[in-house]
Amino acid sequence: MSRTTDQRRRRTRLALPAAVLLLAGGAAIVQGITPAAAAETTLRAAAAKAGLFFGVAASPGRLSSIVAQEFSQLTPENDMKPSTIATSSGGLQNTGAADTLVNYAQTNNMLVRGHTLVWHSQAGALQGANQATLNTFIGNALTRWGNRIAYWDVVNEALADNNAGTRRSEWPHTLNRDANGDGDLFDAGDTDVIRDSFVRAKQVVQANGLSTKLCINDYDVEGLTVRGGTPNRKANALYDIVSNYRQYIDCVGFQAHFNDNPNSIISDDLQANIQRFADLGVEVHITELDIDDDLSNNDIGQGQADNYRKVVRACLNVARCTGITVWGIADSESWRSSERGLLFTGGNGNYQKKAAYHAVLDELNKGRSGTGTPTTPPVTPTVTPTVTPSTSPSPVPAGCTATVSLNSWNGGFVATVRVTAGSASINGWSVGVNLPSGATVTNAWNSTPSGTSGAVRFANVGHNGRLGAAQTTEFGFQGTGSATGITPTCTAS
Ligand code: XIL
Repeated sequence: MSRTTDQRRRRTRLALPAAVLLLAGGAAIVQGITPAAAAETTLRAAAAKAGLFFGVAASPGRLSSIVAQEFSQLTPENDMKPSTIATSSGGLQNTGAADTLVNYAQTNNMLVRGHTLVWHSQAGALQGANQATLNTFIGNALTRWGNRIAYWDVVNEALADNNAGTRRSEWPHTLNRDANGDGDLFDAGDTDVIRDSFVRAKQVVQANGLSTKLCINDYDVEGLTVRGGTPNRKANALYDIVSNYRQYIDCVGFQAHFNDNPNSIISDDLQANIQRFADLGVEVHITELDIDDDLSNNDIGQGQADNYRKVVRACLNVARCTGITVWGIADSESWRSSERGLLFTGGNGNYQKKAAYHAVLDELNKGRSGTGTPTTPPVTPTVTPTVTPSTSPSPVPAGCTATVSLNSWNGGFVATVRVTAGSASINGWSVGVNLPSGATVTNAWNSTPSGTSGAVRFANVGHNGRLGAAQTTEFGFQGTGSATGITPTCTAS
């Protein structure tokens, strides 16, 4: 008997006397029975209690009632890909199916993950486009749905297969140029489609005051190691990208299609890998989870239900792992149906829960602490999970500090400024910079500038002035000329 079935039977046995008493003895007797903290009975409710979302990939034809009952987040499986919605000039077309999914999610208090903007596959009319056209598409897609999309996969599957640790060689990565030939694309003179796409997406988000979070998503990046204990070079390459472009990237998706491929195993260091990304300050999501149950050539370990438990537990154990999404409802409807990798059998709106489903539900019900008594207060599934800075390691002075990161080109720049409160909360802030001669501010977001050249100050706007101790917020400004070398100073009020 599997552990899960065993547990369920035990629970049924325990529940029985209470039911009998209820029938036989009425309210007086039942009052004396204090049930243990009630377990939630749907994935979304159990996940919400633990402070994360639990989502599913779907298409308009798969929106049966189970979707809204069990899941609190929706990823369009195909309907927001460029192959469906992009024109060759970066415009939008055929957005009807995507709209159906977004509307369904909104009606049912589900978050939406937009999937996906820049990808070598399913690129449709965008295939072969230059960065300017990609940027146009990014702008159109982000503004089309605005805050109705909580997370967007801005760049999908940018890294090469077979644990190479390099970028893909297919378009759009053919746009990349390692100008100084030092083997990376992180230098100011390099051209990097990942950086340029995220810079553009961040600009659009900030210029439109959106709360949409910008994610990078990939597969075979789940563990610190791959089969045989070899370092996971693909995961390390992703880590370098997120570290270098942290100011533009808000979240990292591990696709988590676990199968027979030696780089797709569920390794014991999955949690440690989630943790190291979380330590960069980004949210981590398991975005496309399915776990091969075809045991004929299985190197991910036997027992699908236990494998699901491991993955869910690894996420629960990292506070900034804020969501898990399965890539479909039922095995028969999965993109990899032969692997029987999902949580339900059946199909066409008529679904049966598998042992893997019960394992996931049970693990979610144990909460972040793993004890069954969730330490996080219940949150409603409609709320975008908020991320609390884990610790403030050393004493920081009261007031505030500011740091700037610049994205410069010949004749212009975008500055992203991060404001951090000190050891006490603040009610407002302003940041001063001395711009070099010739530099002029042309545009600012999330702040009110005074002046455009020389000594310029940026004051908080209504929504971002109050910061708790050690909390951060970001604002930005764009300008002509060069801002190289500016040092921001922060004054709290
Ligand atoms: C898959 C869909 O599930 C299939 O229906 C489609 O034919 C091909 O794409 N990584 C991704 C997803 O980012 O978009 C892919 O989805 C699965 C792998």
